[in-house]
Amino acid sequence: MFKYFLAIFICLNSKIILLLYSLLEDACREKKIQDLLLICDSLHSMEGSIVQLPEIVSLKKKYKAYLYLDEAHSIGAVGATGRGVVEYFGMNPDDVDVLMGTFTKSFGAAGGYIAGKKGLVDFLRTHSHSAVYATSMCPPVAEQIIRAMKCLMGLDGTTQGKVRQLGKNTRYFRRRLHEMGFIIYGNDDSPVVPLLLYMPGKIGKNIGVVVVGFPATPITESRARFCVSAAHTREMLDTVSTDVLLKLTSDAKGVGRSCVSVTLNLSISFLHLFF
Ligand SMILES: Cc1ncc(COP(=O)(O)O)c(C=O)c1O
Repeated sequence: MFKYFLAIFICLNSKIILLLYSLLEDACREKKIQDLLLICDSLHSMEGSIVQLPEIVSLKKKYKAYLYLDEAHSIGAVGATGRGVVEYFGMNPDDVDVLMGTFTKSFGAAGGYIAGKKGLVDFLRTHSHSAVYATSMCPPVAEQIIRAMKCLMGLDGTTQGKVRQLGKNTRYFRRRLHEMGFIIYGNDDSPVVPLLLYMPGKIGKNIGVVVVGFPATPITESRARFCVSAAHTREMLDTVSTDVLLKLTSDAKGVGRSCVSVTLNLSISFLHLFF
């Protein structure tokens, strides 16, 4: 599909975007490069940052690049109706050439999707390994995805407003942690909430948490990632933010509260809706 191409993987902070400008300038001066592919996370799972999509799209247009957006953590969780960062920024999906997502997170299922122009989808259908050699998705998994999608779209009659509730939970939880003096990373609307945790072993019992350390994070910034859902109640969120985190700070003898760092992941998880 691409003759000579340069793929650039984009992290999501603004310094990187500035660097990207100069990188693209250099790349375009290089005559051999005919196609540029920008590959970009929409919501970074370790940082809770939302991609600056308008800037990335203007870069893409300026340098006539293709844009591949990984919506693993944003589809079903970000945007007024859960359609991801394109909806969050009120942009046109046509501005993104390849929209990719997974069904393992918001949809509580398996597999993933690629969305784009018909030519791209037809190409993948006839050339990609999974389409040509793998077996099709099994019906229960497909049904789970359809149900989750109906739930997201408010078409199942029972769970309207889940995405809105997730947004409220996210902002409430972030505000609480911030008020308590914790260091949290990322965008206010990001349901992935990184709160740095220098002592991952100190986290409380009966709280579902993924602990992430080096090499996924810098060696001094290991963190715990809590997966919060729209189904959580204020009491549950308060239990985590107050009981657990206060325990952390009191255990951190001599370490100031702002130095105790924890990463919380407030992804919507439809598993929480069903179980
Ligand atoms: C950015 C990103 N893309 C894609 C995936 C793939 O997800 P899965 O292998 O669960 O389909 C993940 C998983 O965490 C992810 O973080």
